[in-house]
Amino acid sequence: MEKNETSVIVNKADSSGSADREPILEVENLNVRIRGERHGKNGIHILHDLSFTVREGERWAIAGESGAGKSMTMNALTALLPEEAVELSGSIRYRMEDGSRVDVLSLPYRERQRLLARQVAVIFQDSINALNPNETIGRQWRDTVLLYRPGMEKIQLEQHLLARMEIFGVQGGSGTLAQYPDQLSGGMRQRIAIAMALESPGRILIADEPTTSLDAITQRSTVDFIKTLLDKSGRTLLYISHNLGILQYMCDHVMILRNGAIVEQGEAAEVFAHPVHPYTQELIRETKKIMG
Ligand SMILES: Nc1ncnc2c1ncn2[C@@H]1O[C@H](COP(=O)(O)OP(=O)(O)OP(=O)(O)O)[C@@H](O)[C@H]1O
Ligand SMILES: [Mg+2]
Repeated sequence: MEKNETSVIVNKADSSGSADREPILEVENLNVRIRGERHGKNGIHILHDLSFTVREGERWAIAGESGAGKSMTMNALTALLPEEAVELSGSIRYRMEDGSRVDVLSLPYRERQRLLARQVAVIFQDSINALNPNETIGRQWRDTVLLYRPGMEKIQLEQHLLARMEIFGVQGGSGTLAQYPDQLSGGMRQRIAIAMALESPGRILIADEPTTSLDAITQRSTVDFIKTLLDKSGRTLLYISHNLGILQYMCDHVMILRNGAIVEQGEAAEVFAHPVHPYTQELIRETKKIMG
């Protein structure tokens, strides 16, 4: 399939009050192909003509079934795929702190990665398992801080970590820092992974299924925790999940992906209450069935 057959439905009603805010991320006709010997001369066309605008402070849900292209979208927005493995076209414009707009696709790959590391904080899918099992929490956390603030003095660094642990509800002080990931509970590991992601000064947070590997209670407290952090910091959010319940709770806007294309987007309350695209209607119906 070269192009999505159904045109994108833009659900226009917007009562979230964000329409007059500045766009912080504007994506236009983003296409992504995966290259590689296995995939023939033209590669595989994974994302098809994605276009959407995210304004400062908005919270966007990215929904869709497994394989729809949610993680791939995040990878494209953050330059997380190896350059030789992908071919991107279209534009991805970020607004910088000085108000200028930069199409990151026009930058050389290394420069794009450098810029995005400061612009976007990322919580990876399954990030609780992404912590290195062979290194202490402290070591990994310190390395992350030093990535953004190279040359930070040792004493200052320790004070910074203890203060962040307080903010992120990670108990145990320096004792916890000396432990390895498997010595801590899933909820604690996830808090640490989130805290480490938020060491990035990025004003946009992209979270890919941050709670799937947690039990229901820890899932709820983690979601509440991320919500409180966003309320305090005013960061802009892109939240990827299968879980429409969580997305409805967290987000004010939503885009529905199917087979690598956006089939519907708009204000969350409107899309969830009056889905227009048959696929969105089906997704919501199925969720209601499961939730009872
Ligand atoms: N490295 C790769 N090589 C080839 N195809 C890939 C690669 N990574 C992803 N894909 C394909 O791209 C499509 C989108 O994958 P993606 O991981 O973005 O889905 P997803 O929506 O995040 O799914 P999930 O909900 O299961 O995490 C899928 O068809 C997948 O098979
Ligand atoms: Mg994924």
